[in-house]
Amino acid sequence: MDKILVRGGHRLEGEVVVSGSKNAALPILISSLLTSDICEYHHVPDLMDIHTTLKLLAGLGVRVEKVQSAAGGMDLLLQAETITNLRAVYDLVKTMRASFLVLGPLLARFGEARVSTPGGCAIGARPVNLHLKGLAQMGAKIERVHGYVEASAKKLKGARIYLDLPSVGATENLMMAATLAEGKTIIENAAKEPEIEDLGAALIKMGAKINGCGADIVTIDGVDRLHGAKHDVIPDRIEAGTFMVAAALTGGDVFVQGARADHLDAFLFKLREAGAELSVREGGIRVKGNDRAGSVDITTLPYPGFPTDLQAQMMVLMSVAGGVSVITETIFENRFMHALELNRMGADIRLEGNRAIVRGVENLSGAPVMATDLRASVSLVLAGLLARSETEISRVYHLDRGYEHIEKKLSKVGADIKRVKA
Ligand code: EPZ
Repeated sequence: MDKILVRGGHRLEGEVVVSGSKNAALPILISSLLTSDICEYHHVPDLMDIHTTLKLLAGLGVRVEKVQSAAGGMDLLLQAETITNLRAVYDLVKTMRASFLVLGPLLARFGEARVSTPGGCAIGARPVNLHLKGLAQMGAKIERVHGYVEASAKKLKGARIYLDLPSVGATENLMMAATLAEGKTIIENAAKEPEIEDLGAALIKMGAKINGCGADIVTIDGVDRLHGAKHDVIPDRIEAGTFMVAAALTGGDVFVQGARADHLDAFLFKLREAGAELSVREGGIRVKGNDRAGSVDITTLPYPGFPTDLQAQMMVLMSVAGGVSVITETIFENRFMHALELNRMGADIRLEGNRAIVRGVENLSGAPVMATDLRASVSLVLAGLLARSETEISRVYHLDRGYEHIEKKLSKVGADIKRVKA
């Protein structure tokens, strides 16, 4: 397994380019199951999770073709013309829980599906009860047999669904299912993330009748069939936020090309409150760090609140800020594992339930550390950028799931970072 070595103490300066959004691309690629026509997607990030999704779709019978991409990322052609298999097996779903999103489209178009339940993961139990409850309300017969969901429905019917939690995945699964259902579906307390809006935009290009994507109530009028479409995936707001924290914590001056202020409101507010100087430009955001960040309190919330996927990154900045910060994680029950690794690098973080009390220290010191989940692993890279001595990060496959060539992008703006084959 590869390792990443980082030697800190360098101010980051220059320009970094944000890739396409992993969490928008995953459901959008899966939505190609809803038509037998060709779908063309641009700016798809070259990530492990994307390749896992393409393998999953190919296993169902989707024709997948990569076309040469002029800009960054991958341009893909997908065509679900002859679906030969309606099963998503455990091996694939357990490596990437977003595979569970094939359930809605398979049910809607083919009337049946057999999908492994994703099971828990490092950051929490992550149940799928809201996905299943919504599909059952749309008339699907749902059975859970040996860790699989066996679902069938002659024809899904529109329903009025209230989500107990604004679940991103449940909103996406149910939105896709509803596009081909009979009648109107109303999803209340829907997730409002930009990735939901991007999925909605791609579905509408396919002929779906959807209103309210990105708001609390999404309304979908089912149609008989969807046709092919061409769609450019939005930039990855979490990758953008990660690079902005890197600039702030090294006292650097970086233009993050592709960063969209309208996708990062709460985060930008907190980064400014911590003392970073931000200027929103055409096509990106310039970030100038000061000599030491100020401490700020953070509570993660569903969008448009502060994103849980940027919590670990901000914890690094707070670990060397002047003062004490309280970080409250309300989305996942076990998303502080990076705190234990940061403490090994000299941070002073005390965990109390879903609260982390972060007392800023002068600096961090390099150490051998281990990645545990995607965003925790990138927080260790950020910590390495700070620490004067060398930090060695193992299990970087977690990193490769969500960050496209991160060591190349950070080296380009002055970081001393390299990947070594273990
Ligand atoms: C998506 O996960 C993202 N993944 C996550 O990003 C992100 O952290 C999360 O949304 C929250 O923003 C993708 O988009 C592929 P949820 P998802 O359903 O859909 C509970 C990353 O690092 N819940 O909104 O799984 C659940 O346990 C990843 O890129 C139920 O109780 O998130 C969690 O506590 C990590 N029942 C909360 O809701 C359900 O049926 C939010 O989960 C579904 C969810």
